[in-house]
Amino acid sequence: MRLRKGKRQQADEDRTEADRTGEAHGGPGTAPAAVPGAAVELRGVRRQYGRGAGAVHALAGIDLALPRGTFTAVMGPSGSGKSTFLQCAAGLDRPSAGSVRLGGTEITGMSENELTELRRSRLGFVFQAFNLLPSLTVEQNVLLPMRLAGRRQDRRRAAEVLAQVGLADKARRRPGELSGGQQQRVAVARALVTAPDVVFADEPTGALDTGTAAEVLGLLRHAVDALGATVVMVTHDPAAAAWADRVLFLADGAFADHLERGSAQQIAARMTGLTGRARTMAGAGAGAGAGAGAGAGVGAGAAA
Ligand SMILES: Nc1ncnc2c1ncn2[C@@H]1O[C@H](COP(=O)(O)OP(=O)(O)OP(=O)(O)O)[C@@H](O)[C@H]1O
Ligand SMILES: [Mg+2]
Repeated sequence: MRLRKGKRQQADEDRTEADRTGEAHGGPGTAPAAVPGAAVELRGVRRQYGRGAGAVHALAGIDLALPRGTFTAVMGPSGSGKSTFLQCAAGLDRPSAGSVRLGGTEITGMSENELTELRRSRLGFVFQAFNLLPSLTVEQNVLLPMRLAGRRQDRRRAAEVLAQVGLADKARRRPGELSGGQQQRVAVARALVTAPDVVFADEPTGALDTGTAAEVLGLLRHAVDALGATVVMVTHDPAAAAWADRVLFLADGAFADHLERGSAQQIAARMTGLTGRARTMAGAGAGAGAGAGAGAGVGAGAAA
Protein backbone atom coordinates (compact mmCIF):
# COMPACT_ATOMS: atom_id res chain seq x y z
CA MET A 1 0.00 0.00 0.00
CA ARG A 2 1.12 3.48 -0.68
CA LEU A 3 2.54 5.62 2.04
CA ARG A 4 1.74 9.27 1.83
CA LYS A 5 2.61 10.87 5.06
CA GLY A 6 2.78 14.61 4.54
CA LYS A 7 3.18 17.19 7.26
CA ARG A 8 -0.53 17.62 7.58
CA GLN A 9 -1.16 13.93 8.02
CA GLN A 10 1.53 13.70 10.69
CA ALA A 11 -0.08 16.63 12.47
CA ASP A 12 -3.46 14.93 12.17
CA GLU A 13 -2.07 11.77 13.65
CA ASP A 14 -0.59 13.66 16.56
CA ARG A 15 -3.85 15.43 17.16
CA THR A 16 -6.00 12.32 16.98
CA GLU A 17 -3.56 10.54 19.28
CA ALA A 18 -4.45 13.21 21.83
CA ASP A 19 -8.14 12.91 21.01
CA ARG A 20 -7.92 9.18 21.45
CA THR A 21 -6.95 9.48 25.08
CA GLY A 22 -9.94 11.78 25.60
CA GLU A 23 -12.44 9.32 24.07
CA ALA A 24 -15.32 11.75 23.70
CA HIS A 25 -18.02 9.28 22.76
CA GLY A 26 -17.47 6.57 25.31
CA GLY A 27 -20.02 4.14 26.59
CA PRO A 28 -20.28 0.42 26.93
CA GLY A 29 -19.20 -1.52 23.86
CA THR A 30 -17.55 1.45 22.14
CA ALA A 31 -14.62 0.27 20.03
CA PRO A 32 -11.14 1.72 20.62
CA ALA A 33 -10.61 4.95 18.69
CA ALA A 34 -7.88 3.99 16.26
CA VAL A 35 -7.52 0.88 14.17
CA PRO A 36 -4.15 0.45 12.44
CA GLY A 37 -4.48 -0.26 8.73
CA ALA A 38 -8.02 1.08 8.51
CA ALA A 39 -8.86 2.75 5.20
CA VAL A 40 -12.09 4.23 6.53
CA GLU A 41 -12.80 4.97 10.16
CA LEU A 42 -15.88 6.60 11.62
CA ARG A 43 -16.18 7.41 15.30
CA GLY A 44 -19.43 8.51 16.92
CA VAL A 45 -20.67 9.91 13.61
CA ARG A 46 -24.08 11.52 13.76
CA ARG A 47 -25.90 13.46 11.08
CA GLN A 48 -28.97 15.41 11.98
CA TYR A 49 -31.24 17.30 9.62
CA GLY A 50 -33.25 20.12 11.16
CA ARG A 51 -33.69 20.90 14.84
CA GLY A 52 -36.09 20.37 17.69
CA ALA A 53 -39.09 18.08 17.46
CA GLY A 54 -38.89 17.83 13.68
CA ALA A 55 -35.21 16.82 13.62
CA VAL A 56 -34.28 13.76 11.55
CA HIS A 57 -31.40 11.67 12.91
CA ALA A 58 -30.16 10.27 9.61
CA LEU A 59 -27.06 8.84 11.31
CA ALA A 60 -27.45 8.09 15.00
CA GLY A 61 -23.92 7.20 16.10
CA ILE A 62 -21.80 5.24 13.64
CA ASP A 63 -18.59 3.51 14.77
CA LEU A 64 -16.68 1.44 12.30
CA ALA A 65 -13.28 0.76 10.85
CA LEU A 66 -12.87 -0.84 7.43
CA PRO A 67 -9.48 -2.46 6.81
CA ARG A 68 -7.52 -1.65 3.66
CA GLY A 69 -7.98 -4.12 0.85
CA THR A 70 -11.56 -5.05 1.72
CA PHE A 71 -14.88 -4.84 -0.11
CA THR A 72 -17.81 -3.71 2.06
CA ALA A 73 -21.45 -3.48 1.02
CA VAL A 74 -23.89 -1.28 2.92
CA MET A 75 -27.58 -2.20 2.79
CA GLY A 76 -30.70 -1.10 4.59
CA PRO A 77 -34.31 -0.08 4.05
CA SER A 78 -35.08 3.15 2.22
CA GLY A 79 -34.38 6.09 4.51
CA SER A 80 -32.09 4.07 6.81
CA GLY A 81 -29.19 6.44 6.14
CA LYS A 82 -27.12 4.68 3.46
CA SER A 83 -26.53 7.71 1.25
CA THR A 84 -25.94 9.92 4.29
CA PHE A 85 -23.39 7.40 5.56
CA LEU A 86 -21.57 7.28 2.23
CA GLN A 87 -21.52 11.05 1.90
CA CYS A 88 -20.17 11.55 5.42
CA ALA A 89 -17.60 8.77 4.99
CA ALA A 90 -16.42 10.25 1.68
CA GLY A 91 -16.10 13.84 2.90
CA LEU A 92 -19.00 15.00 0.71
CA ASP A 93 -21.10 15.92 3.73
CA ARG A 94 -20.13 17.01 7.23
CA PRO A 95 -21.34 15.00 10.22
CA SER A 96 -23.16 16.89 12.99
CA ALA A 97 -20.88 15.11 15.46
CA GLY A 98 -18.08 12.58 15.48
CA SER A 99 -15.00 12.11 13.33
CA VAL A 100 -14.02 10.52 10.03
CA ARG A 101 -10.56 9.31 9.00
CA LEU A 102 -9.69 8.33 5.46
CA GLY A 103 -6.46 6.49 4.72
CA GLY A 104 -5.24 7.48 8.16
CA THR A 105 -6.03 11.18 7.69
CA GLU A 106 -8.50 12.88 9.98
CA ILE A 107 -10.84 14.85 7.71
CA THR A 108 -13.03 16.37 10.39
CA GLY A 109 -12.37 20.09 10.44
CA MET A 110 -10.78 20.23 6.99
CA SER A 111 -11.66 23.23 4.84
CA GLU A 112 -13.74 22.78 1.68
CA ASN A 113 -10.59 23.19 -0.43
CA GLU A 114 -8.74 20.58 1.55
CA LEU A 115 -11.67 18.16 1.27
CA THR A 116 -11.91 18.72 -2.48
CA GLU A 117 -8.21 18.08 -2.89
CA LEU A 118 -8.43 14.95 -0.75
CA ARG A 119 -11.38 13.61 -2.72
CA ARG A 120 -9.62 14.23 -6.04
CA SER A 121 -6.31 12.70 -5.11
CA ARG A 122 -7.19 9.95 -2.65
CA LEU A 123 -10.78 8.83 -3.29
CA GLY A 124 -12.57 7.27 -6.23
CA PHE A 125 -16.30 7.49 -6.92
CA VAL A 126 -18.69 5.37 -8.95
CA PHE A 127 -22.31 6.52 -9.18
CA GLN A 128 -25.47 4.88 -10.45
CA ALA A 129 -25.70 7.36 -13.33
CA PHE A 130 -22.05 6.83 -14.48
CA ASN A 131 -21.47 10.64 -14.45
CA LEU A 132 -19.11 10.67 -17.43
CA LEU A 133 -18.63 13.88 -19.39
CA PRO A 134 -20.21 13.28 -22.82
CA SER A 135 -17.99 15.71 -24.74
CA LEU A 136 -14.75 14.07 -23.59
CA THR A 137 -13.32 10.85 -24.95
CA VAL A 138 -13.15 7.76 -22.76
CA GLU A 139 -9.43 8.39 -22.18
CA GLN A 140 -10.06 12.05 -21.26
CA ASN A 141 -12.79 10.99 -18.83
CA VAL A 142 -10.40 8.57 -17.16
CA LEU A 143 -7.71 11.27 -16.96
CA LEU A 144 -10.14 13.80 -15.48
CA PRO A 145 -9.25 13.23 -11.79
CA MET A 146 -5.57 13.94 -12.59
CA ARG A 147 -6.49 16.99 -14.66
CA LEU A 148 -8.71 18.38 -11.90
CA ALA A 149 -5.99 17.77 -9.35
CA GLY A 150 -3.56 19.72 -11.54
CA ARG A 151 -1.39 16.65 -11.95
CA ARG A 152 0.35 15.39 -15.05
CA GLN A 153 -2.14 13.49 -17.18
CA ASP A 154 -0.49 10.11 -17.36
CA ARG A 155 -1.77 8.52 -20.57
CA ARG A 156 0.08 5.29 -19.92
CA ARG A 157 -1.71 5.01 -16.60
CA ALA A 158 -5.05 5.67 -18.33
CA ALA A 159 -4.29 2.92 -20.86
CA GLU A 160 -3.37 0.58 -18.02
CA VAL A 161 -6.65 1.03 -16.10
CA LEU A 162 -8.70 0.92 -19.32
CA ALA A 163 -7.05 -2.42 -20.09
CA GLN A 164 -7.91 -3.59 -16.57
CA VAL A 165 -11.60 -2.93 -17.22
CA GLY A 166 -11.41 -4.53 -20.68
CA LEU A 167 -11.80 -1.32 -22.68
CA ALA A 168 -8.30 -0.80 -24.10
CA ASP A 169 -9.79 -0.42 -27.58
CA LYS A 170 -12.34 2.25 -26.60
CA ALA A 171 -9.99 5.03 -25.47
CA ARG A 172 -10.91 7.37 -28.34
CA ARG A 173 -14.66 6.78 -28.20
CA ARG A 174 -17.12 9.09 -26.49
CA PRO A 175 -19.39 7.82 -23.70
CA GLY A 176 -22.49 8.09 -25.93
CA GLU A 177 -20.99 5.48 -28.25
CA LEU A 178 -20.74 2.90 -25.44
CA SER A 179 -23.29 0.62 -23.77
CA GLY A 180 -24.38 1.32 -20.20
CA GLY A 181 -22.15 -1.44 -18.86
CA GLN A 182 -19.17 -0.15 -20.82
CA GLN A 183 -19.81 3.38 -19.54
CA GLN A 184 -19.83 2.12 -15.97
CA ARG A 185 -16.56 0.28 -16.63
CA VAL A 186 -15.09 3.61 -17.77
CA ALA A 187 -16.35 5.11 -14.51
CA VAL A 188 -14.61 2.29 -12.60
CA ALA A 189 -11.39 2.97 -14.54
CA ARG A 190 -11.70 6.67 -13.68
CA ALA A 191 -12.24 5.78 -10.01
CA LEU A 192 -9.11 3.61 -9.99
CA VAL A 193 -6.76 5.82 -12.03
CA THR A 194 -5.23 7.65 -9.06
CA ALA A 195 -4.86 4.40 -7.05
CA PRO A 196 -7.09 5.92 -4.37
CA ASP A 197 -7.22 4.98 -0.71
CA VAL A 198 -10.92 4.18 -1.00
CA VAL A 199 -13.44 3.74 -3.83
CA PHE A 200 -16.97 4.75 -2.84
CA ALA A 201 -19.76 3.33 -5.00
CA ASP A 202 -23.40 4.42 -4.65
CA GLU A 203 -25.73 1.91 -6.35
CA PRO A 204 -23.12 1.28 -9.09
CA THR A 205 -25.26 -1.43 -10.70
CA GLY A 206 -28.64 0.25 -10.16
CA ALA A 207 -28.97 1.12 -13.86
CA LEU A 208 -27.54 -2.12 -15.27
CA ASP A 209 -29.01 -5.49 -16.22
CA THR A 210 -27.95 -8.56 -14.25
CA GLY A 211 -25.21 -9.72 -16.61
CA THR A 212 -23.64 -6.28 -17.04
CA ALA A 213 -23.93 -5.66 -13.31
CA ALA A 214 -21.91 -8.81 -12.66
CA GLU A 215 -19.15 -7.55 -14.97
CA VAL A 216 -18.90 -4.26 -13.09
CA LEU A 217 -18.99 -6.01 -9.70
CA GLY A 218 -16.30 -8.39 -10.91
CA LEU A 219 -14.11 -5.37 -11.69
CA LEU A 220 -14.60 -3.94 -8.20
CA ARG A 221 -13.84 -7.37 -6.72
CA HIS A 222 -10.70 -7.60 -8.87
CA ALA A 223 -9.61 -4.12 -7.79
CA VAL A 224 -9.75 -5.30 -4.17
CA ASP A 225 -8.16 -8.73 -4.68
CA ALA A 226 -5.48 -7.90 -7.24
CA LEU A 227 -4.81 -4.17 -6.76
CA GLY A 228 -5.35 -3.87 -2.99
CA ALA A 229 -8.13 -1.31 -3.37
CA THR A 230 -10.68 -0.67 -0.63
CA VAL A 231 -14.28 -0.52 -1.84
CA VAL A 232 -17.37 0.70 0.03
CA MET A 233 -20.57 0.14 -1.93
CA VAL A 234 -24.17 1.08 -1.16
CA THR A 235 -26.67 -1.22 -2.82
CA HIS A 236 -30.27 -2.42 -2.65
CA ASP A 237 -29.42 -5.63 -4.46
CA PRO A 238 -28.50 -8.74 -2.43
CA ALA A 239 -26.85 -10.27 -5.52
CA ALA A 240 -24.56 -7.22 -5.78
CA ALA A 241 -23.84 -7.26 -2.03
CA ALA A 242 -22.82 -10.93 -2.27
CA TRP A 243 -19.66 -9.84 -4.15
CA ALA A 244 -18.46 -8.03 -1.01
CA ASP A 245 -16.41 -9.47 1.84
CA ARG A 246 -18.99 -8.26 4.32
CA VAL A 247 -22.37 -6.62 4.34
CA LEU A 248 -23.29 -4.00 6.92
CA PHE A 249 -26.99 -3.47 7.52
CA LEU A 250 -28.26 -0.02 8.45
CA ALA A 251 -31.54 0.58 10.24
CA ASP A 252 -32.67 3.98 11.48
CA GLY A 253 -29.22 5.49 11.11
CA ALA A 254 -27.26 2.83 12.98
CA PHE A 255 -25.59 -0.44 12.01
CA ALA A 256 -27.93 -3.14 13.26
CA ASP A 257 -26.43 -6.27 11.74
CA HIS A 258 -23.61 -7.59 9.58
CA LEU A 259 -22.83 -10.66 7.54
CA GLU A 260 -19.45 -12.02 6.43
CA ARG A 261 -19.18 -13.60 3.00
CA GLY A 262 -22.94 -14.08 2.74
CA SER A 263 -24.71 -15.54 -0.26
CA ALA A 264 -27.37 -13.48 -2.07
CA GLN A 265 -30.04 -15.64 -0.40
CA GLN A 266 -28.60 -15.14 3.09
CA ILE A 267 -28.29 -11.41 2.51
CA ALA A 268 -31.87 -11.18 1.22
CA ALA A 269 -33.11 -13.06 4.30
CA ARG A 270 -31.29 -10.65 6.64
CA MET A 271 -32.73 -7.70 4.76
CA THR A 272 -36.25 -9.09 5.13
CA GLY A 273 -35.72 -9.55 8.87
CA LEU A 274 -34.29 -6.06 9.17
CA THR A 275 -37.15 -4.42 7.31
CA GLY A 276 -39.66 -6.20 9.54
CA ARG A 277 -37.76 -5.21 12.67
CA ALA A 278 -37.37 -1.63 11.47
CA ARG A 279 -41.14 -1.45 11.11
CA THR A 280 -41.87 -2.78 14.59
CA MET A 281 -39.16 -0.59 16.09
CA ALA A 282 -40.16 2.49 14.13
CA GLY A 283 -39.17 5.55 16.10
CA ALA A 284 -37.36 3.56 18.79
CA GLY A 285 -33.98 3.57 17.06
CA ALA A 286 -32.14 0.39 16.10
CA GLY A 287 -29.52 -0.01 18.77
CA ALA A 288 -29.22 -3.78 18.44
CA GLY A 289 -25.58 -4.58 19.21
CA ALA A 290 -24.25 -6.39 16.20
CA GLY A 291 -20.93 -6.77 17.97
CA ALA A 292 -17.59 -6.38 16.27
CA GLY A 293 -17.37 -7.95 12.85
CA ALA A 294 -14.15 -9.81 12.19
CA GLY A 295 -11.69 -7.00 11.79
CA ALA A 296 -14.44 -4.60 10.85
CA GLY A 297 -14.99 -3.19 14.29
CA VAL A 298 -18.64 -2.62 13.55
CA GLY A 299 -20.78 -1.78 16.46
CA ALA A 300 -23.88 0.21 17.14
CA GLY A 301 -22.79 3.48 18.70
CA ALA A 302 -24.24 4.85 21.88
CA ALA A 303 -27.58 6.00 20.53
CA ALA A 304 -29.27 8.88 22.28
N1 LIG B 1 -31.24 17.02 2.95
C1 LIG B 1 -32.05 16.41 3.81
N2 LIG B 1 -32.89 17.11 4.60
C2 LIG B 1 -33.69 16.50 5.49
N3 LIG B 1 -33.72 15.16 5.68
C3 LIG B 1 -32.92 14.41 4.94
C4 LIG B 1 -32.04 14.98 3.95
N4 LIG B 1 -31.35 13.97 3.36
C5 LIG B 1 -31.78 12.83 3.92
N5 LIG B 1 -32.72 13.09 4.88
C6 LIG B 1 -33.39 12.09 5.72
O1 LIG B 1 -32.41 11.31 6.36
C7 LIG B 1 -32.80 9.94 6.39
C8 LIG B 1 -31.76 9.08 5.69
O2 LIG B 1 -31.74 9.42 4.31
P1 LIG B 1 -30.76 8.69 3.27
O3 LIG B 1 -30.90 9.41 1.99
O4 LIG B 1 -29.41 8.59 3.85
O5 LIG B 1 -31.44 7.24 3.18
P2 LIG B 1 -31.09 6.01 2.23
O6 LIG B 1 -30.85 4.84 3.12
O7 LIG B 1 -30.00 6.38 1.30
O8 LIG B 1 -32.45 5.79 1.44
P3 LIG B 1 -32.72 5.27 -0.07
O9 LIG B 1 -32.53 3.79 -0.04
O10 LIG B 1 -34.16 5.63 -0.28
O11 LIG B 1 -31.79 5.99 -0.98
C9 LIG B 1 -34.18 9.89 5.75
O12 LIG B 1 -35.15 9.93 6.77
C10 LIG B 1 -34.23 11.14 4.91
O13 LIG B 1 -35.55 11.60 4.77
MG1 LIG C 1 -29.91 6.63 -0.82
